[in-house]
Amino acid sequence: MPELPKTMHAFVLHEHGGMDALRYHEDWPLPEVGPDDVLIKVGACGMNNTDINTRVGWYSKTVTGATESNASEKSGDTDPSWGGAPIRFPRIQGADVVGEVVAVGANAEQALLGKRVMTDNWMRDWDDPMNRDRTGYYGSERDGGFAQYATADRRNVGAVNSPLSDAELATFSCSYTTAEGMLSRAGVGAGDRVLITGASGGVGSALIQLAKRRGATVIAMSSPAKHEQLRELGTDAMLERTPADLAGALKSATGQPSVDVVCDIVGGDSWPSLLEVLVRGGRYACSGAIAGPIVSLDLRTLYLNDLTLHGSTVVPPHIFTDLVGYIERGEVRPLLAATYPLRDLQAAQRAFTEKAHVGNIAIIPD
Ligand SMILES: NC(=O)c1ccc[n+]([C@@H]2O[C@H](COP(=O)([O-])OP(=O)(O)OC[C@H]3O[C@@H](n4cnc5c(N)ncnc54)[C@H](OP(=O)(O)O)[C@@H]3O)[C@@H](O)[C@H]2O)c1
Repeated sequence: MPELPKTMHAFVLHEHGGMDALRYHEDWPLPEVGPDDVLIKVGACGMNNTDINTRVGWYSKTVTGATESNASEKSGDTDPSWGGAPIRFPRIQGADVVGEVVAVGANAEQALLGKRVMTDNWMRDWDDPMNRDRTGYYGSERDGGFAQYATADRRNVGAVNSPLSDAELATFSCSYTTAEGMLSRAGVGAGDRVLITGASGGVGSALIQLAKRRGATVIAMSSPAKHEQLRELGTDAMLERTPADLAGALKSATGQPSVDVVCDIVGGDSWPSLLEVLVRGGRYACSGAIAGPIVSLDLRTLYLNDLTLHGSTVVPPHIFTDLVGYIERGEVRPLLAATYPLRDLQAAQRAFTEKAHVGNIAIIPD
């Protein structure tokens, strides 16, 4: 193994706020490798809305608007992280690390040295790994991968054998485990008709591929400019982002005005129509609210139609190991829209929030 440097290039979040809160450093200390850790030389790190939501403090209950709303001006600093506890600064964000293991702690398998790995973003108490109260998010409760090097617990990395590039592999982890968690919680299987919102994004495009993998019929909602690319993923029908008459749009696109399952990461003002198109006994799963977290629920729609609502965030550990298998067997494919060098992380975040892309954007260390 090559000798390791003492410092590295890193983009560091110093406080909640605008882009200025993110600062580039060329002499940040290399992270210490704990007994259960591996040190990864980062080849690429994917982006996620969590990075932005955390930076601006959008998770605070004082914020009621869409993700792009200027949350940091309104949020207090008592609950602005995904898990409700304050973030400790300085913090290196970035949950989807792909790279080579260049050092291992005393308890980590030597065999991991030199392996190409990807990371599972759910940090766990490994004495109680199914306890969702004892979890943290990589790049939020622990430093992540917007740097040349990153550490991760040995049980949070998966060796991956794939012809895909590091940047392509970095599109998968958070989005696809989130999507698989939603599908598994809603019990999606062959024969289900699944409606997916925000279908062009990281989680949405993962939902399309993973729902098709389960044998479901997929109807995807997205801006029309992105429809062509999403059809190539195997969607059975495409609808616009927010049709004025959702049941009518479904009927004309598929012959039926209803679906068995809705997988939603958008929320916002048009949310009630998503429940209205569910069949009796239908299931709704939610992992995000990019258009706004406060929605209006008519309880009659819920109980008179025997609906089940699922929230989904922390997923069990097997979801990540299953995903590595899907990637290695070519059952899912990456949608890499762009790469940016680490020093241009701010430009990458601007492009990410403009939402002109399909899939995900990855950061490549200098
Ligand atoms: N719970 C979890 O563990 C978890 C994990 C990952 C992500 N999330 C959350 O899930 C949501 C989606 O994440 P993602 O990574 O898939 O996001 P993304 O890549 O940014 O995609 C979101 C898509 O939603 C669509 N959209 C619809 N209405 C929108 C609006 N008002 N503003 C912006 N976009 C809108 C856009 O597609 P069109 O232009 O095609 O409509 C956009 O591409 C985020 O809120 C994120 O925080 C949660």
